[in-house]
Amino acid sequence: TRSAVIVVAAGSGTRLAAGAPKAFVPLAGRTILQHALDGVFAAEPAQVVLVVPAGREAEATEAADGRPVQVVAGGDTRQRSVAAGLAVLADGIDTVLVHDAARALAPAAQFGAVADAVAPGVGAIPALPVVDTLKRVHAGVVIAPVDRAELAAAQTPQGFPRAELEAAYAQAVQRGAEHTDDAALFAAAGGAVHHVPGSEEAFKITTPHDLERARMILAATEP
Ligand code: C5P
Repeated sequence: TRSAVIVVAAGSGTRLAAGAPKAFVPLAGRTILQHALDGVFAAEPAQVVLVVPAGREAEATEAADGRPVQVVAGGDTRQRSVAAGLAVLADGIDTVLVHDAARALAPAAQFGAVADAVAPGVGAIPALPVVDTLKRVHAGVVIAPVDRAELAAAQTPQGFPRAELEAAYAQAVQRGAEHTDDAALFAAAGGAVHHVPGSEEAFKITTPHDLERARMILAATEP
């Protein structure tokens, strides 16, 4: 199989409040995007597509440090940003992995594990067990407990057969449906989705606290 990774990095980073789009926020001397690309390239995909905010294309190309990337401008939702990446996939790519740049420390092995679990009609996502006790709530009132044994926390990269993912995207556009991840979009089109073990390091950098956690991990693991 020939895999491509679409790295979506076109979010605004509002919750991070770091004064720049999230992917371009500094992290241990480099940017979140540069760290994310290390994991992506270590997995040796046949093509890497980077989806960034319009106007940031040149900066994104530089962030690749000479490694081959195709850079495109994203859309106003994550789903539209992924669609922009799908539009520039090379001929011969048969498996697509969609990855959030915000999961900057996702290990390279996670890309391989996801790609290996993709099969005809079957997508794959990394997921972790939920550790918190969860409640269904409404207007300040706890309505019901939720059995966490039935739940898993989804991460990226999420992998799919290319043609089937493209068809699922076309269907979502036609229906005007907006999904928060590709697994939900793929399932809405009738696809099966399997999960493989995720990893703690693949957490999504969303808040200032998450950025601090990433800094501490890098400080502990880099010479
Ligand atoms: O907003 P959230 O943290 O869920 O975003 C997940 C990923 O999707 C991030 O890497 C972000 O850059 C990307 N994204 C995007 N285009 C958008 C919104 C989010 O590429 N319009």
